[in-house]
Amino acid sequence: MKKYTEMNRAELKAERERVEAIYKALQDQKLSLNMARGKPGKEQLDLVSDILDVLKSDSDFICDGIDVRNYGNLEGLPSCQKLFAEVLGVKPENIFVGGAASLQLMYDTISKAYTHGRVNSEKPWAKLDCVKWLCPSPGYDRHFGVSESFGMTMIPVPMTAEGPDMNVVEELVKDPDVRGMWCVPKYSNPDGIIYSEETVRRIASLKPAAKDFLLMWDNAYCIHEFFGDFVPFPDILSECAKYGNEDMVFEFASTSKITFPGAGISVFACSDNNMRYMKKLLDKQIISYDKVNQLRHVRYLKDKAGLLALMKRHAGVLGPKFRCVLDALEKEIAPLGIAEWQRPNGGYFVSVNTMPGIASATWKLCLDAGLTMTNAGATFPYGKDPKDSNLRVAPSLPPISQLEKAMEIFCVSLRLAALNKLLAE
Ligand SMILES: Cc1ncc(COP(=O)(O)O)c(C=O)c1O
Repeated sequence: MKKYTEMNRAELKAERERVEAIYKALQDQKLSLNMARGKPGKEQLDLVSDILDVLKSDSDFICDGIDVRNYGNLEGLPSCQKLFAEVLGVKPENIFVGGAASLQLMYDTISKAYTHGRVNSEKPWAKLDCVKWLCPSPGYDRHFGVSESFGMTMIPVPMTAEGPDMNVVEELVKDPDVRGMWCVPKYSNPDGIIYSEETVRRIASLKPAAKDFLLMWDNAYCIHEFFGDFVPFPDILSECAKYGNEDMVFEFASTSKITFPGAGISVFACSDNNMRYMKKLLDKQIISYDKVNQLRHVRYLKDKAGLLALMKRHAGVLGPKFRCVLDALEKEIAPLGIAEWQRPNGGYFVSVNTMPGIASATWKLCLDAGLTMTNAGATFPYGKDPKDSNLRVAPSLPPISQLEKAMEIFCVSLRLAALNKLLAE
């Protein structure tokens, strides 16, 4: 197959007629498919549902000498702190175990900076004239949603194959109004990129003009390989400490893509200073989080080895789904020169970068043929993709049979959008 970008007008027209016919035939099937959100599929939920059986009414509810059914231990069950400490490579006392969603911990961390300031703030951020925030893009739409809801001025930072473009970041942090940055360092959402060691080092050693600069290190996919073995990753807390930046970073993780999304447990990891400060503030907000669920997770997951064994079972479900998406792109799109994508080994997404100016049109064509995708633009601050070129594919929810159909619609829509654009030029 010849590249679309190398076809003459007559060839493009003939190809459009052909692709339009395939598109119409798919439309006639009146399908209703969804590749919009990174939700685990039913098989994955079934896989872990025996977690509900580990605590029975006659079970031992005592762990670490604590009756988990009662108030107490704001920072979480020690065994649960230990479990996450092992996963993230930090000390148990630097782990705070929260509720059922890490996004809430992230929101709360920022919210407290606005209402009370950070450990080293001159004043609460709400009293500042301007808070600027670095947003490696494409990125996670809900991160940008948090920033937007606090009225931050979001500054997009281009992503490279090694993580955020650090030349740009190092320049931008010279501005004292730049107070922080979002990062998804392993299997980034949506690109599936693992930040290189050099990128991690350059982030940890940043010298921001704002001394209360906040690095939001969302390690949501820290053990989420779907191809191959677990890939070790540096611990950001000790990396930052090497450069005197121990108070700059908060790291987040959760079991949302391990046990139940929205019904698991979440954690943040931070320096001793930050921990003392956060506990003082959190103590006014809640007496203690759900230790019953924490114990359920400790008994079910046991330790890092137990977690990694479970992630292999998730990979058994997810791997074939990602293979299906990547194979379809390779076969249907790669020869045409109209899009590029990363080939991740973990995480929850495939990020497709189309030729400029056709992501929205592709999204609309998908929708009109019965396939819901994440909105075009959603992966950029304010929902605005300057090149209108990024689309996030989330293959985890649909069963393989539906996924194959969904990818058929996606690839045909992308081809049609590219042909329409080339013919309009
Ligand atoms: C990067 C990232 N962080 C956080 C979350 C949400 O995590 P939680 O359910 O723990 O709030 C997601 C969910 O897709 C995500 O992709």
